[in-house]
Amino acid sequence: MVDAKYGPWAVIAGGSEGVGAEFARLLAKAGVNLVLVARKPEPLAATALTCRDLGAEVRTLATDLVESSAVDELTALTDGLEVGLFIYNAGANTCSADFLDAELADFQRVIDLNITTMMALTQHYGRLMRERRRGGILLVGSMSGYLGSVRHTVYGGVKAYGRIFAEGLWLELRDHGVDVLELVLGVTRTPAMERVGLNFDVPGMRVADPADVAREGLEQLPNGPVYVAGGNAEDVARRTDPDRRKVVAGAHRMMQKLMGLT
Ligand SMILES: NC(=O)c1ccc[n+]([C@@H]2O[C@H](COP(=O)([O-])OP(=O)(O)OC[C@H]3O[C@@H](n4cnc5c(N)ncnc54)[C@H](OP(=O)(O)O)[C@@H]3O)[C@@H](O)[C@H]2O)c1
Repeated sequence: MVDAKYGPWAVIAGGSEGVGAEFARLLAKAGVNLVLVARKPEPLAATALTCRDLGAEVRTLATDLVESSAVDELTALTDGLEVGLFIYNAGANTCSADFLDAELADFQRVIDLNITTMMALTQHYGRLMRERRRGGILLVGSMSGYLGSVRHTVYGGVKAYGRIFAEGLWLELRDHGVDVLELVLGVTRTPAMERVGLNFDVPGMRVADPADVAREGLEQLPNGPVYVAGGNAEDVARRTDPDRRKVVAGAHRMMQKLMGLT
């Protein structure tokens, strides 16, 4: 069940594959209409078709959320629609390199996707929700945002930013009928991660299923500001230990294995 306050339309930025596609399916089943955004037209069309078969009205936008024009394109497409739920899911690391060895412009794209565009769209839909005094904003975060790790200097930073941003926004909106949740994911078997070749078989590492974490996210949306999905709450608690040297160096070996570097 999805609360009627999160309808009649939901926007999913990054709604074609993986966790985003699972959000779409769950919402379509619950009778919420959808606006789905992603770059690749084919998976976008396939997810839209699935959701239409489930009875939802669906609009799609094939665009790159890194481009500043994407905000105007999307807000024009949703003009006049009552958007009760905004999900920002797009945001995997697109520049997995040692910081000194990649172009600054490529790291900037990680910042633009996870911070600049996320903020612009959250402000647009958040203002409309606050006026109506109802709605939900769900931002997809990462356990990477709790500690520094190699090749994640910028990605870890933007994910930490997203969580702090969500916490503040939750406080600002909680008396206005708008729910805010940062859904923190651990390793999740999404098509994007399959393509970059993550090693999902590291002993002792939890690997979540996109359908499970999407369901958890929608269930926990009223209980913001932060929810750690996939049974990873204890691991996250360990990552907040003030002895940062112990935490950062301790997690390093596992991260190396995950990224196939050892
Ligand atoms: N998978 C994991 O292990 C994991 C772990 C922790 C956190 N997370 C977080 O979970 C979220 C989803 O990650 P994911 O693994 O599914 O990968 P992702 O590359 O973020 O893809 C998710 C969705 O967003 C779309 N997308 C990605 N970049 C986009 C862009 N620049 N413009 C428009 N759409 C874009 C993708 O379609 P297109 O590629 O066609 O654009 C897809 O529909 C991210 O925020 C990530 O940080 C994932």
